Amino acid sequence: MKWVYIEDLAGYQDQDVEIRGWVHNTRSGGRIRFIIIRDGTGFAQATIFSKDENDPLFKTFDRLTQETSLIIRGRVREDKRAPGGYEISVAEIEIIQVAVDYPITPKEHSTPFLMEHRHLWLRSRKQHAVLQVRAEVVRAIRGFFDDRGFRLMDTPILTPSACEGTTTLFETKYFDQAAYLSQSGQLYNEATAAAFGKVYCFGPAFRAEKSKTRRHLIEFWMVEPEVAFATLEDTIELGQDLILFILERVLTKRRADLAELERDPSRLESITKPFPRLTYDEAVPRLQEKGSAIKYGEDFGAPEETIMSDLYSSPVCITHFPAGIKAFYMQPDAARPDLALGVDVLAPEGYGEIIGGGQRIHDPALLERRIKEHNLPPEPYQWYIDLRKYGSVPHSGFGLGVERVVAWICGIKHIRETIPFPRLLYRIYP
Ligand code: 4AD
Repeated sequence: MKWVYIEDLAGYQDQDVEIRGWVHNTRSGGRIRFIIIRDGTGFAQATIFSKDENDPLFKTFDRLTQETSLIIRGRVREDKRAPGGYEISVAEIEIIQVAVDYPITPKEHSTPFLMEHRHLWLRSRKQHAVLQVRAEVVRAIRGFFDDRGFRLMDTPILTPSACEGTTTLFETKYFDQAAYLSQSGQLYNEATAAAFGKVYCFGPAFRAEKSKTRRHLIEFWMVEPEVAFATLEDTIELGQDLILFILERVLTKRRADLAELERDPSRLESITKPFPRLTYDEAVPRLQEKGSAIKYGEDFGAPEETIMSDLYSSPVCITHFPAGIKAFYMQPDAARPDLALGVDVLAPEGYGEIIGGGQRIHDPALLERRIKEHNLPPEPYQWYIDLRKYGSVPHSGFGLGVERVVAWICGIKHIRETIPFPRLLYRIYP
């Protein structure tokens, strides 16, 4: 008998197949028994029907507990009432292992309990749906860049210097030298962009974020395109297109998962380009009107991001931040050198920043000055300054955080459920 996956059942109507999986739930009534089996690709209903109370299948059924591993053999039948539209008429059950006292029962559990059992929690329907969406988002991102001629460049995780400020650096040892886990692959991508024109890196980023918020992970995944000769405007355009591409993919391929998460798809479907745009100068008075205590010249904190992203039903782009609150590498605006040619894209519905990026300094003297002003040691940046000496060109790029995008698309409150094993301020187990 052929081993098939639940997500492929539609192709096996009226055929005998084998499903290998785990018991999610069971139900019985009169002459009928139901097993909800999950196999990783989905959930299906398997049915045992018998007039004989002593049917050996009923006896096997009675041994089934939640998360018992088993193989079910039977015929695939179309049944509009069944979840997924198909069910299995069971002919044979082979138990692999009876699970005893599975800790996550259908009753409500506290979040700390579930986090402690994250290795098992992943099997639950909602967690499964979120991570299916995540996998689709990642696939969409790779497809988007690969199909547009971007070259994938894997940037190092162990680095000698900071990219995004020194306060969130994760220090480690590199033999007898200090090293830091990468906060961003951007600086290296500026080198690969000069070698390959348009590139992207996609990997984990590490930030020792000391504040406990629902938007911050210590380890998160970021995709970072970088394009030689591109301006701030080009990078905003690219960011918008990427977000729209991801949304369309998830809305087409993972609708059932969004339904499982009770996420209203119309909120995502209504998003079009161009996204609304504001400069920092325009945003500050709007924030103050809405009750924020922000003063001109201060960076947005989580409350400002929330207010801003609550104002719109679409992602919104904020540009031209004061240079002083932004990273050392940002190109100043020619007309207003106190402002940086940077962009933050904030997701709607209070989800906060999903993209940060902009145009990079291409003048070597200015870059050296900025490194000094930011009190960064010049030695580890020599190679980075070199890029400005040998055929320097304007160039731009951005970073998009996968977990924030997944949280927004799924409509879930906390980012910790968007990655299989979140690293949080007070948690590294499991
Ligand atoms: O705005 P950020 O810090 O930008 C950079 O790292 C640039 N070097 C990227 C570039 O231009 N190539 O971070 C980019 C994005 C944020 O918008 C957010 O989505 C995500 O990375 N991010 C985090 N996600 C989860 N947890 C954290 N602690 C995050 N910090 C940033």
